[in-house]
Amino acid sequence: MKYKRYFRKTSLKQKGVGDFFLNEILAKKPKFFLEVGVYHGVTARNVCELLYQIHGSAFQYIGLDLFEVNNENKSEIIPNTEFSNPLKKIYFKYIKKQDPYSISAVRDLLKKFKNNVNLIKGNSNIILKKIDMSKIDYVFLDGGHNYETVLNDLKCCNEVVKNNGIILCDDYDLTFAPGVKKAIDEFVLENNFDCQIICNNRFAKIQRR
Ligand SMILES: C[S@@+](CC[C@H](N)C(=O)[O-])C[C@H]1O[C@@H](n2cnc3c(N)ncnc32)[C@H](O)[C@@H]1O
Repeated sequence: MKYKRYFRKTSLKQKGVGDFFLNEILAKKPKFFLEVGVYHGVTARNVCELLYQIHGSAFQYIGLDLFEVNNENKSEIIPNTEFSNPLKKIYFKYIKKQDPYSISAVRDLLKKFKNNVNLIKGNSNIILKKIDMSKIDYVFLDGGHNYETVLNDLKCCNEVVKNNGIILCDDYDLTFAPGVKKAIDEFVLENNFDCQIICNNRFAKIQRR
């Protein structure tokens, strides 16, 4: 599977990482996918394309993001959403007339799958508690990177692992966000889950033993 960039920004930009990620999804073939931290929606689109190839229309994708930086969420680590590439700046400002880091722009990128996609704007510390996790069989956890948020997100997705699903966490070993590793290690130990660190320490893959 080839991971495509769709002329937008993504955290899976490093060579080979996106393809590795898609092969992980392909191995599990989930039907109910949750992504925490959607950003420009590039991974969302890649996941939907893949799940469509596997299941036709019989899949669901839920994507959750703040989709804005404001006073309430300024403690979260949010990647720079601006382009350095002037062509991309022009394309979004004058042709698409969109902010690519907005729920409407991501909805537009995913419109091909509009019947399968549910995008939610909000903070995972509040929203995840309200999501029914009983059917979700794959979580890509790539939202807030501070310790409290990662631990909250993992706890809210505990049921997914108990039901034989997978939580794949990005940025396991980031020097500038040590809280990710700390929260994952604690969560895995407390629940006695299996945790494989894969793709050159990039992802933590959490599942039942
Ligand atoms: C690293 S980016 C996600 C990249 C995306 N998964 C991809 O593959 O391109 C992290 C995203 O998490 C979002 N985020 C940060 N804290 C959050 C929170 N507490 N709740 C929801 N989203 C959050 C940010 O707005 C940002 O878009």
